[in-house]
Amino acid sequence: MSHSAPASVLLAEDDGALRTVITLELKRLGLAVTAVPGGKEALAAMAAQAFDLVITDLKMPVVDGFQVLEVARKRIPEAQVIVVTGHGSVDSAVRAMKSGAFDYIQKPVDPETLSMVVNKALERLRLLREVEHLRAQVRGRFDPGNIVLVSNAMRRILELVQKVGVTDAAVLIQGESGTGKELVARAVHAAGSRRNHPFVAVNCGALPEGLLESELFGHARGSFTGAVANKRGLFEEARDGTLFLDEIGEMTPALQVKLLRALQTGEIRRVGENRTVKINARILAATNKDLKKGMADGSFRDDLYYRLNVFPITIPPLRERPEDIMPLAERFLKTAKEKHGGKAVRFSPEAAQALCSHAWPGNVRELEHAVERAVILAPEGEVRAEDLPPEVRPPSGADSKRSLGDMEREHILMTLDACAGNQVEAAKRLGIARNTLWRKLKDYGVPAKK
Ligand SMILES: Nc1ncnc2c1ncn2[C@@H]1O[C@H](COP(=O)(O)OP(=O)(O)OP(=O)(O)O)[C@@H](O)[C@H]1O
Ligand SMILES: [Mg+2]
Repeated sequence: MSHSAPASVLLAEDDGALRTVITLELKRLGLAVTAVPGGKEALAAMAAQAFDLVITDLKMPVVDGFQVLEVARKRIPEAQVIVVTGHGSVDSAVRAMKSGAFDYIQKPVDPETLSMVVNKALERLRLLREVEHLRAQVRGRFDPGNIVLVSNAMRRILELVQKVGVTDAAVLIQGESGTGKELVARAVHAAGSRRNHPFVAVNCGALPEGLLESELFGHARGSFTGAVANKRGLFEEARDGTLFLDEIGEMTPALQVKLLRALQTGEIRRVGENRTVKINARILAATNKDLKKGMADGSFRDDLYYRLNVFPITIPPLRERPEDIMPLAERFLKTAKEKHGGKAVRFSPEAAQALCSHAWPGNVRELEHAVERAVILAPEGEVRAEDLPPEVRPPSGADSKRSLGDMEREHILMTLDACAGNQVEAAKRLGIARNTLWRKLKDYGVPAKK
């Protein structure tokens, strides 16, 4: 909130002197204050404006603080409500908290307590908004409604997703890196009756065996050093929902045995505990490895494979479904514009040509990143071929048409890429001052980084 407009607060207090004191303190805290002498006026103010914070006295004639609280919860559910109670009326404070008030302050109002409670409420609001923002981003990225499908291959996959979605069968999603395995997994989850329950994803390649085991199955307190409390595992977290075992091909043989047992018996046991817990999670798994090869060389158990692979879905690499390239690129152009405020609205014919002829070893994810980068670089109107990453561009003689400025920009950005975005290092390699680099990057519209 510190970068935008000051937080707005509605204060309803019938005692004029107290209203003045609280108003001054709130202004001192940098808030935009609307102070009203009663509940009726508070309701009118809320009808006209969505406040971040509502502070209301509980005992007021005609319309009291409980009614203000109730309307605030309905009308501006995000707003945090703080109630002011008379001395010794803790029970009404408790009642207000039960009805959704964030906190209460007792009269006589001590400015320090007031500022502490207000800051706590604002912090909570900030976190709520941040979480909501992040959720919306994740939702957008993995919203099945956002899946681009033009090729027959992708359409068939989506049909399959709808069919399997309503069953409880295990699905194994295979495909090269970046083909959209997680997206498809989330779509399977969203297509079935478990959609309103958790989708829990775990990357089996990211954790060492012991940790992954306790993540999946949970553990009892004291079962190993560092197990300071009982912990539910992801199987339990995914109760009534879906457990997505990503990178299943990376799972060690020992853990494969334990996973197989869990799937066979429908029960798990937390590490260090004897009690068993029934599992009720749908299992989806994904891999970019060839599990058949894994079975042949003994690194993947075939009994586990058959259990996970009731329904196989194989997503073809992007180079085998070129019809999807431009529709995906258009989609990513739109989202990147919204995210970075870029000015380009379309791809130049040369850029489109380059996109369509590239082999995309990193598949859809590589395309997504290439477009995002191009949107940042493209001056306006069109994304040009030279805005695309060098490996995507055709190695044509078009270089002679490019200006010195373009070439300099490209060289600088490639160097920066090669230094993993480290500007100090890049400046050193380029042989220019850090300030010069920074200024140029600013001209190119590259977001500032340390
Ligand atoms: N058909 C599609 N339509 C829209 N976006 C897609 C499509 N396929 C993939 N994406 C996007 O591409 C990115 C990569 O997809 P995802 O993470 O699902 O791939 P993955 O196969 O799980 O990759 P990895 O093997 O690297 O984990 C995501 O941002 C996803 O939203
Ligand atoms: Mg993935």
